[in-house]
Amino acid sequence: MAAKTSFFLLIAITTCLITSSTSQTPAYRGRWRLLKRNIGISAMHMALLPNDKIIVFDRTSFGPSNLTLPQAKCHIDSTISDNCFAHSVEFDLSNRAVRPLTILTDTWCSSGALSSSGVLVQTGGFEAGELVVRYFQPCAGCDWVENPNGLIAPRWYSSNQVLPDGRIIVVGGRLEFSYEFIPKSSKQNPQLYKLPFLEQTRYSAKVPNNLYPFLHLSPDGNLFIFANDRAILLDYASGIVVRQFPTMPDGNGAVSRNYPSTGSSALLPIFLSRNDTVTRDAVVLVCGGTASDANVKASAGEYVVATRSCGRISITEEKPEWEMEEMPVERVMGDMILLPTGDVLIINGARKGTAGWDVAREPVLYPVLYRTGRDAKTRFEILSPSIIPRLYHSTAHLLPDGRVLVGGSNPNRNYNFSTVYPTELSLETFYPPYLNTKSRPLITNVEPGKEMAYKQRISVRFRSSSKESFNGGGVYVTMVAPSFTTHSFAMNQRLLVLDVGEVMSREKESNEYVVEGHAPPTPAVAPPGYYLLFVVVHGAPSRGMWIRIK
Ligand SMILES: *[C@@H]1O[C@H](CO)[C@@H](O)[C@H](O)[C@H]1NC(C)=O
Ligand SMILES: *[C@@H]1O[C@H](CO)[C@@H](O)[C@H](O)[C@H]1NC(C)=O
Ligand SMILES: *[C@@H]1O[C@H](CO)[C@@H](O)[C@H](O)[C@H]1NC(C)=O
Repeated sequence: MAAKTSFFLLIAITTCLITSSTSQTPAYRGRWRLLKRNIGISAMHMALLPNDKIIVFDRTSFGPSNLTLPQAKCHIDSTISDNCFAHSVEFDLSNRAVRPLTILTDTWCSSGALSSSGVLVQTGGFEAGELVVRYFQPCAGCDWVENPNGLIAPRWYSSNQVLPDGRIIVVGGRLEFSYEFIPKSSKQNPQLYKLPFLEQTRYSAKVPNNLYPFLHLSPDGNLFIFANDRAILLDYASGIVVRQFPTMPDGNGAVSRNYPSTGSSALLPIFLSRNDTVTRDAVVLVCGGTASDANVKASAGEYVVATRSCGRISITEEKPEWEMEEMPVERVMGDMILLPTGDVLIINGARKGTAGWDVAREPVLYPVLYRTGRDAKTRFEILSPSIIPRLYHSTAHLLPDGRVLVGGSNPNRNYNFSTVYPTELSLETFYPPYLNTKSRPLITNVEPGKEMAYKQRISVRFRSSSKESFNGGGVYVTMVAPSFTTHSFAMNQRLLVLDVGEVMSREKESNEYVVEGHAPPTPAVAPPGYYLLFVVVHGAPSRGMWIRIK
């Protein structure tokens, strides 16, 4: 029925969005810049706050880092040999300053999300940290505040998603086949919700291949959960699995997509319509990963080549099927980052081995661009390589100015600078090809932090020196939710293409234009909170402006 038709419509629209970047030299493949050689710690977990600060942390059980805490902040923790080292920092994008932050309990392999009020919420970790919920307010001089019993169940390798009511759902973890909410809805409802799917999808108890499950909030309000090679749609309020999706081909025990056979996943752009009764299609993309037994083999010294395959599936269609396609390079531990244009950047990772201590080989230094709207044959484009391997415990994050921040990589049990893949303390930025233009648009009427109500009429003004006409379209307004990135998964990442009308000229001399349209219709489509608002003109995005929808 209508679902199928609108799925193809989605492809048609995305094609216009993506293929309109004729102002760039086709051969240009983006470039890399070292942003900071040493931030003192290794960027295992990364989040962007609405004040343009990056919060980074790794694990307190790494032992000494390369950054000491101020004397007054030295803490006591039996799991740390020397307790005066920082394992979290605030990185200021405006001046590259690093401020050491204090974490008291272990955040190793944990999860997080930016709450709807703009506070970074971190959940779980290792040993003394496994039940802890930590909060970081985006303000000058602020530090982590820890709630030692914030979780009901221990969460190590879990995933998070912000929900339409503003709560954060925390799903899974090692040997934890359940989920729970932050904050607790009420004293009457503190229970754990069982999720047998997480037990059913394990490859084995020792090599689960379903940790850090991929979560995406469907526009119908249910939660899409992908683990290993299978996926469900969960009505999280009742705990009922409302749909089971087909097993991803290549699966059936052969290829796994989650930790430690780590692939990645992103929810492709959601196109909004002012008429919110119209079906909104949501398509999930899963790329990379490796043979289900690759971790066992790597531990025995045999480094299996990762998969090239990606699959995409419309999670809102009635009878969805996986459409399979192939990346130009095999990749395990790649990050998938949504760019403001609606394309996906696949970056970091290795060609052989798996996630885990020293079990990956042949770093893949080339990012790959996935042009969402093109057909499967021309969709992938290999971009310029970095010189720094980013293996296990590396991260990537979209920045407000359209660059992509890359950091971390520490496949070693502590900070070790003499291994084949040493502990990496640097931050780099990748400039996607769309930044190679002299005519980036500039949004002129959105103050940072501007509030937006659902369905509200909006008007976005921008300057553009683009010589191309807007008659045939070519102008999009997109909203991107900032992610919490760790272990190759950008949690809570989401991109909405707003419903806007024709571009109108406002002032000829200053090349100012205006588009009018509507804010997202419902919190299921756009959970409340902070987003970066971009105008994309003929493939070139503006700088993103922070807005808050509530
Ligand atoms: C970190 O500290 C170690 C030990 O002091 C030193 O050898 C290493 O060069 C430092 N790393 C960086 C990137 O500065
Ligand atoms: C919205 O779309 C539905 C289904 O196509 C249609 O029946 C309805 O009249 C539309 N409403 C408005 C306000 O356009
Ligand atoms: C670093 O790793 C190498 C190779 O595994 C090991 O021999 C060495 O002892 C490690 N150094 C430290 C400081 O842990």
